[in-house]
Amino acid sequence: MRILITGGAGFIGSYLSDAYIERGDTVHVIDDLSTGNIHNIAHLKKHPKFSYTIDTVQTCPPPAPFDMLPRLQMNNSGETLKNVASALM
Ligand SMILES: NC(=O)c1ccc[n+]([C@@H]2O[C@H](COP(=O)([O-])OP(=O)(O)OC[C@H]3O[C@@H](n4cnc5c(N)ncnc54)[C@H](O)[C@@H]3O)[C@@H](O)[C@H]2O)c1
Repeated sequence: MRILITGGAGFIGSYLSDAYIERGDTVHVIDDLSTGNIHNIAHLKKHPKFSYTIDTVQTCPPPAPFDMLPRLQMNNSGETLKNVASALM
C-alpha cells in the first residue's frame, strides 16, 4: 500500500514510518519540522520505498495518490483535511 504519514519526522510518525516500511509498504512523509527532527527519519532516507517532503500539511499538495493516511497531524484546519484527503484513493 501507499502510505502518507503527516508529521512523520515526529515521535509517533517516525515509528509509524519504520513499521510500514518494514511491512513492505511505500511511505511518504510530510513534516514541517516544527517539533519533529529530520534525524528521526535519517535512517530511512535511502530506502527505495521511502520519500519525504519538508513542508506544512496545510498547503503542501500530496505528492501522489495514496491508499492510507494513518495519522493526520491534528493542529490543522478543514482546509488541511481537504488538501490531504484529495489524494486519498
Ligand atoms: N522520547 C520520548 O519519550 C518522546 C519523544 C518525543 C515526544 N514524546 C511524546 O510523545 C507524544 C506524541 O508525540 P507526537 O509524535 O504526537 O509529537 P511530535 O511533536 O513528535 O510529532 C508531531 C510531528 O508533526 C509535525 N508537524 C506539526 N505540525 C505540522 C504541520 N502543520 N505540517 C507538517 N508537519 C507538522 C512536527 O514537526 C512533528 O514532527 C507527545 O506527548 C510527546 O510529548 C515522547
